Amino acid sequence: MSIADLTRTEPIVQPEVPIATDLNAPPFVTQRALLHWVADIAKLTKPERIEWCDGSDAEWHRLTKLLVDAGSMIPLNAQKRPNSFLVRSDPDDVARVEDRTFICSVNEADAGPTNNWRDPDEMNEELRGLFDGSMRGRTMYVVPFSMGPYGGPISQVGIQLTDSPYAVLNLRIMTRMGFDALAQIDEKTPWVPAVHSVGAPLVDATGRRVADVAWPSNSTKYICHFPETREIWSFGSGYGGNALLSKKCFSLRIGSFMGLQEGWLAEHMLILKLTSPEGKAYHMAAAFPSACGKTNLAMLRPTVPGWKAETIGDDIAWLRPGADGRLFAINPEAGFFGVAPGTGEKTNPVAMDTVASNTIFTNVALTDDGDVWWEGMTEATPDHLIDWRGEEWTPDSGRPAAHPNSRFTVPIQQCPTLSEEWYENAGVPLDAIIFGGRRATNIPLVAEAFDWQHGVFIGATMSSEQTAAAEGTVGDLRRDPFAMLPFCGYNMADYWGHWLEIGKTLGNKAPSIFQVNWFRKDADGSFLWPGFGENSRVLEWIARRVDGDVATENAPMGRVPAAGTFNLEGLDVSDEAMEKLFHVDRNMWTAECDLTEEYFDKFGERVPAALTDELAQLRGRLTT
Ligand code: GTP
Ligand code: SPV
Ligand code: MN
Repeated sequence: MSIADLTRTEPIVQPEVPIATDLNAPPFVTQRALLHWVADIAKLTKPERIEWCDGSDAEWHRLTKLLVDAGSMIPLNAQKRPNSFLVRSDPDDVARVEDRTFICSVNEADAGPTNNWRDPDEMNEELRGLFDGSMRGRTMYVVPFSMGPYGGPISQVGIQLTDSPYAVLNLRIMTRMGFDALAQIDEKTPWVPAVHSVGAPLVDATGRRVADVAWPSNSTKYICHFPETREIWSFGSGYGGNALLSKKCFSLRIGSFMGLQEGWLAEHMLILKLTSPEGKAYHMAAAFPSACGKTNLAMLRPTVPGWKAETIGDDIAWLRPGADGRLFAINPEAGFFGVAPGTGEKTNPVAMDTVASNTIFTNVALTDDGDVWWEGMTEATPDHLIDWRGEEWTPDSGRPAAHPNSRFTVPIQQCPTLSEEWYENAGVPLDAIIFGGRRATNIPLVAEAFDWQHGVFIGATMSSEQTAAAEGTVGDLRRDPFAMLPFCGYNMADYWGHWLEIGKTLGNKAPSIFQVNWFRKDADGSFLWPGFGENSRVLEWIARRVDGDVATENAPMGRVPAAGTFNLEGLDVSDEAMEKLFHVDRNMWTAECDLTEEYFDKFGERVPAALTDELAQLRGRLTT
């Protein structure tokens, strides 16, 4: 079918660089709405050709070869890391751009004070201007994907149109991508349309072809969400959450609003299965802000004898009350887009095994023998590297060899600790929900919420030190409710209300809620807690609490382990350090309450009364 068949338009002009005239759709695609959309975007963006991605190995090999031949991807040493590649981004396109991320709801108040808002009609007009001809000279890929197992009760489908083969390859790892996903879409199945262009057409103003660059991008960036119509438009960036629209854009920003409308939750959470020495399984989901330890906890290798941990998800969880009244969780993704720095045999051996092959590395360093390296990967630093910018590097260069937000993209099925339950259509029933952040002070190693409402208060008042996962000043303390600050597609106060409502639906079948902090520091700036595999001690305590097997003491911020009940056997952490990990500085907590009050005030009337009540109760506990 041709584009002209589907759009009532003026005849397509023939500039020097050709424009696709054939939709090139596979014969089994007959849905008019889908074909019309592809035709409309092609007409706007004017790509040279259109390709529908089938998700095959042949397609993977063809596109990796295309990028290698173009100099955009470096194949790694096939003996050391088979079928793996290094990509270097534009140095100005290395992280999510939160100040260029917009929620375009009809009413500004529905986006809320924590989101950038734009009027949907105005934004649509502006975007149409930017996308006009933005794919000239490039191929537009039609990338169908399923979030979650095909046809599962919590799963959703989407289609991304993109001019970035790098995005296609990453989507193939991160989602169930290809014709099997496309086959999920019939006239009755809703799907989320997502349009992406790196904004670097291969023609200049005079219509002549220009040379391509290794990492095309545009200094103007827009990451736009239209929650009411469930649409995504992303312009100008090729990086991570800006360009893989299945991830933060769909699974969290659009997903959270779908969840509000339909009675479920889209969360920035890992999911893991923990099995006790007695053989009892516990399912836990944990929300930590970006670069605060989700991937590491999801792949944890327990140091406590007899306990087993299995991975279900490392970044996103969709939660829905199930038929039996419990809260079920799926990982909608099919791969990891993990932080490289700090990942090594000591800290995360499971991740190191996972990335042994079939992996795309972005912005890490290249070794002299054609492998990758980043800070924290090995104890010894190589004498010579090519750094993430492609420049010569030695240990005394005085700058990191890998970008702090460098990443690996790898299929989840390569994870040696992957749980069989990742495949479960219906997901897994949650026993515990955990909130955490990067906090040098105040927040204890672990505390249990008194009840669901108190747990929602803990989630709502989380703050964390900013990391390199987004543009901004690393280390600044900022509020990050539910680790969703950059990802909630609607008014954050309404989101808190939605969590309270879900708690009412679940009643006494609701999972218990906990708060953790691996990052508390001593006066000299060193971490008080060894973290990583030792975090299994905290998970063990949480599991024991789920069963009501272990005594607690009431602290102002929740229930903490009663003296002598936290398993420290075989661990070299002093009593003094343990005391500091749970120390409550009442003055600092009172100051934090004052800040919480100011924070809540930003949301005005929309803050649920239950949360202002919780704040009053916390103040009360602090004074007794
Ligand atoms: P996103 O993919 O950005 O959402 O990040 P994430 O939450 O999955 O974080 P990840 O597990 O990749 O960890 C980020 C950084 O925190 C890495 O450098 C880790 O080495 C470090 N980290 C993770 N767990 C711990 C811990 O228990 N203790 C300490 N000190 N550092 C940790
Ligand atoms: C995060 O920043 O939370 C990530 C990486 O997981 S990105 O895909 O860029 O959002
Ligand atoms: Mn994340």
